[in-house]
This record gives sequence, C-alpha cells and structure tokens, in this order.
Amino acid sequence: MSSNAELQARRQKAVPRGVSNSLAVYAERASNAELWDVEGRRYIDFASGISVLNTGHVHPKVAQAIARQLEKFTHACFQVTPYESYVALAEQLNGLAPGATPKKTIFLTTGAEAVENAVKIARFHTKRSAVIAFSGGFHGRTLACISLTGKVSPYKSGFGPMLPEIFHLPYPTAYHGVTVEDCFVALDRLFKADVDPARVAAIIIEPVQGEGGFYAAPPELLRRLRTVCDTHGIVLIADEIQSGFGRTGRMFAVEHSGIEPDLITIAKSVAGGVPLAGVIGKADIMDAPAAGGLGGTFAGSPLACAAGLAVLEVLREEQLLKRAQDIGRFMSSRLKGLQVRFPCIGEVRNLGAMVAMELVKNARADSPDAELTKALVQAAGRHGLVLLSCGVYANVIRFLAPLTITDALLKEGFHLLELALDEVAGGVAAKATG
Ligand SMILES: Cc1ncc(COP(=O)(O)O)c(C=O)c1O
Repeated sequence: MSSNAELQARRQKAVPRGVSNSLAVYAERASNAELWDVEGRRYIDFASGISVLNTGHVHPKVAQAIARQLEKFTHACFQVTPYESYVALAEQLNGLAPGATPKKTIFLTTGAEAVENAVKIARFHTKRSAVIAFSGGFHGRTLACISLTGKVSPYKSGFGPMLPEIFHLPYPTAYHGVTVEDCFVALDRLFKADVDPARVAAIIIEPVQGEGGFYAAPPELLRRLRTVCDTHGIVLIADEIQSGFGRTGRMFAVEHSGIEPDLITIAKSVAGGVPLAGVIGKADIMDAPAAGGLGGTFAGSPLACAAGLAVLEVLREEQLLKRAQDIGRFMSSRLKGLQVRFPCIGEVRNLGAMVAMELVKNARADSPDAELTKALVQAAGRHGLVLLSCGVYANVIRFLAPLTITDALLKEGFHLLELALDEVAGGVAAKATG
C-alpha cells in the first residue's frame, strides 16, 4: 500500500506544479459525503470535488445507470451515430430551465468548454464580438475563459495576450461596500468610453460567484442586466456551472431573481462526477450556428448522459432542493455561532447550500487573512474534514457538502471545523482561559 507521502513525492516528479492540490491526501474510495485515503483515514467531504457531487459520491442510482450503460456501449459520438439519452437529457433540461421561451441544449465535456460555446453561440447570433464579464468572476482555464475571468493570479498572469474586446464590471459585494449602483455607473461609463453597446454580443455573469468568493448577485442586479440586454440586443449568459443543479435551493440560482437568461452554462454536478457540461438556451439563439459549428468528440458521452438522467431523478426523489435550503440554514446558523467565538470570521453568507465564511484580520473587511485561510484548510484536513478556499484575496472558506449528506455527518463536520479553528485561530473563550 502506498502512503500519502510516497504518492506526493511521485506526484511532484510526474505532474507539473501548475495543477495544485488543496491537500496531499490521496483518495482511495468514497461514499456519499465521506472519503477514505490510501492510508485508510476517513474524511468528511465539505468540498464535493469543487461542487461536483450535489448527489454525493457514487450515488447508487447514478452508479447503476453508468453500469447499465457500460454494458451497452461507452462511445459512439453524438455527431456520428446519436443516441437517445443525449436527447432525453436535453429535453428534461429544456423543461427545467427558467422562463417560458422554448429551449435547446447542447452537451460538452467541461465547464470551460460550455462557456466557450456560449460565447461562440452569442457571437454568431448577434454578429457582434465584445463580451462583458465581472471582476472576481471565474469562467474556466481555456484562453477565452481566462480572458473572461476577473482574477489575475494565478489564472491570467503569464498566459496572455487575452482575447480582445472583453470588459469587466464591478460585481456587487455588500461586505466590501460595492453596490449595484457602482456596477451600473461603471456600465454606463463603459458604454460611453470604451465600447459601443451595439458591438456587445454578451454579458456573462455568475448568479453566485464561485471561485471569486461566494457572493450572490442581488436580484436587482440581474433584473437590471436583463433590461440592459433587452434594450441593446445583448445575450445574457448565466454561468451556473458552480451555482446550478440545486446547490442554492433552486434548480438554477438565477431563479432567485425571477429573470430568464438567454443562455445558461452548466457543468460540475450535472452528472454526479462523470464529466458533462452543457449550454441550455433560447432555441432561436441556440440554433444560430450552422451545422458542424458546435460539438466535440466526447461531448455528451453516453456514460455521462446516463448519469445525468439519474442525477435528475435523484434530485427529484430525494427533494434535494429543499435539502439545500435546510443545509444552508444549518450551516449559516452554526457559522454565525462560531463568529462570536472567532472574530477572524468577518462575514458569513449563503444562498441555499452555497455557504461561505470570509476570514479577516482585526474584524476588518479590507484586511483579508489568506494565511489563516490556508492554515485552516490544512488543519481541517488533519482533523479529517475536506475544506476548500476561494476568493479574489484567497480568504474565503466555501462549504460545498453533498446535498445528500446526513444530519449526523453535517454535525460531525462542524465539530471538526471547530477543532481546526481552535487550532489555527484560538477562539475568544479559548484565549481567555488559556
Ligand atoms: C462558474 C464557473 N464557470 C466555469 C468553470 C470552469 O469549469 P471547468 O473547470 O469544468 O472547466 C468553473 C469551475 O470552477 C466555474 O466555477
């Protein structure tokens, strides 16, 4: 049996450092919200492989669907000899996407690919080229996606030049004093000083910023962006790759604002751990590119589509949207309790089960504590809890437990979190007695 240390030494020789690891913990097996490493140690998983496992590790229904498909065929390529599961999954997603306008769906393999395709479709439809994105946003690691992404290091620096005609607006973050008004003042100025709105193909926004720090867009922002897009013939793209598939208590986070985006990008939790991404959109926009202009060899693979159909069944049968709301309430109330003991927790925020705490020095929003955040992730790992950080200033812990997690594991996870916080931050009460 290999140890984590042995595997880490091999990894350092064989795999480039550009692919980072949160923990030097090598997974051996996993089930629902638990994971065991190669040394037999058990972890509670509050990361879900970056939001991929809303239905948990190896959900029996998803595993059965994949096994059944494995017995039939693993690959045909939808562009060569199509198969029903792709069509059936598209039909279901078209019905689930918000708004009354008829929809169509294309499947791809990764989130970045979904974003690339959404931009291609918007450009073809509008015959325009510029795209507006948001500061702090994250859209993937391909060249178009890093151009859209609003965080320089480590995503953009050294990889330029970026795609031309990409502009960024401020994303409202109440904790940092950035308002919806700031965003529209910047947009107004952008249209006056930098780009004619008639050249703008798309505005792309995460309804809840993921990598950027788990900030939810105020509903007013999304509604006003919808109006701007309608006024200028711009395609509104909601990037729901991290916020979608029940995570926020609705199928898509954008539903909290009541708007209908033109295109929605999906990935991560769509197929319970099998790579699958897609773009769902208004049918007339989706049909703009000519035959052959979209697709991909592995895009919408039969294994992924079978898993995707099973994931939708699980979301319905286990009422995971409601469960997301319950998990969100539990987590945010526990974190607010911890905030009293640990002044380093500057803010606790959530939309459903997309929960975060921001760690700061001296209780000041403008003093991010990236060191402490890093230390907490490592300490939690030592206590048997997988945590993930995020944020433009790398000072946010995001909580992404599977929506299928049991109450007992949730509670145990928070106990481990408290132990880790005690270790690296020393609670107020702990200091008084220590
Ligand atoms: C909002 C958002 N868009 C796009 C991506 C890129 O997805 P992938 O890593 O599958 O390419 C991510 C990944 O974290 C994401 O959170």
